[in-house]
Amino acid sequence: MEHSGLQHPSAIVTGASRGIGKAVAKQLAADGYGVIVNYFRSCDAADATVSEIVSDGGKAVAIQSDIGDPEAPHTLTRAALEHFGPPSVLINNAGITSQGRLDILEASVESWDRVFDTNLKGAFFCAQACANLMIEHRVNPGYIINMNSISSYAVSTNRADYCIAKSGMHMMTKLFATRLAEEHVLVYEVCPGVIESDMTAPVKQKYDTLIDDGLSPIRRWGTGDDVASAVSMLVSGALPFTTGERINIDGGFHIRRL
Ligand SMILES: NC(=O)c1ccc[n+]([C@@H]2O[C@H](COP(=O)([O-])OP(=O)(O)OC[C@H]3O[C@@H](n4cnc5c(N)ncnc54)[C@H](OP(=O)(O)O)[C@@H]3O)[C@@H](O)[C@H]2O)c1
Repeated sequence: MEHSGLQHPSAIVTGASRGIGKAVAKQLAADGYGVIVNYFRSCDAADATVSEIVSDGGKAVAIQSDIGDPEAPHTLTRAALEHFGPPSVLINNAGITSQGRLDILEASVESWDRVFDTNLKGAFFCAQACANLMIEHRVNPGYIINMNSISSYAVSTNRADYCIAKSGMHMMTKLFATRLAEEHVLVYEVCPGVIESDMTAPVKQKYDTLIDDGLSPIRRWGTGDDVASAVSMLVSGALPFTTGERINIDGGFHIRRL
């Protein structure tokens, strides 16, 4: 892997103050990346992510930015350039669930706008900004990984905006994978299943029961570390003739069964 001659290759992880993003940021730091730990509201948690990385011997900087704000991609790429150099990895992880988890017949415009701004628009324009920077700085290879979800294809009628935005992320992955192949930037989506985090905490009991009843062939909750291992493998350079691929980290949930 070439890293522009810098001591630390550079990675941006959006939404890395908590949950899956935090696990991914810590893994990439352990893999030798200088990591931009993006957060929105959880300043203390982002500082804790950075402290844990630094005390493990890694490099990271916390950067506040609402990913749904059109300025966010520029804020994050500027920070990467300033601290670690042009990013060779972008992890589009920041995400929120549907506000109030309302039935599709009650779903609100406010939730739709917030979910789409954060989960899809933010990811799209971060990918665009990072891709342009990777091209400009001849990063080879570059990696863009979109944190998708089983909700991109599995229906939850009380989270329509979330499902539709994640479904759009699947097409977004294919679009960038196609356009960026000739630019030496590989694009993937990781599809976590039911992962233990603040996002799923309010529905823990429901999923405990579903998992016990065989929701996925592997009957346990997934963890941030399960997802982080997949990301680490993808950016290791192990799959150089692969792009646009979906990696399911879901205990086999995606397998249709009789
Ligand atoms: N948990 C699951 O079961 C599961 C399954 C499939 C896919 N996913 C996806 O995985 C990703 C992470 O989910 P998670 O479970 O780790 O969620 P989480 O524990 O709720 O953490 C969400 C992270 O996203 C950040 N974030 C939220 N809004 C943001 C914004 N506007 N700008 C920047 N950062 C923002 C949060 O930062 P602050 O706290 O600083 O605001 C936090 O770091 C999401 O894209 C989610 O859709 C999760």
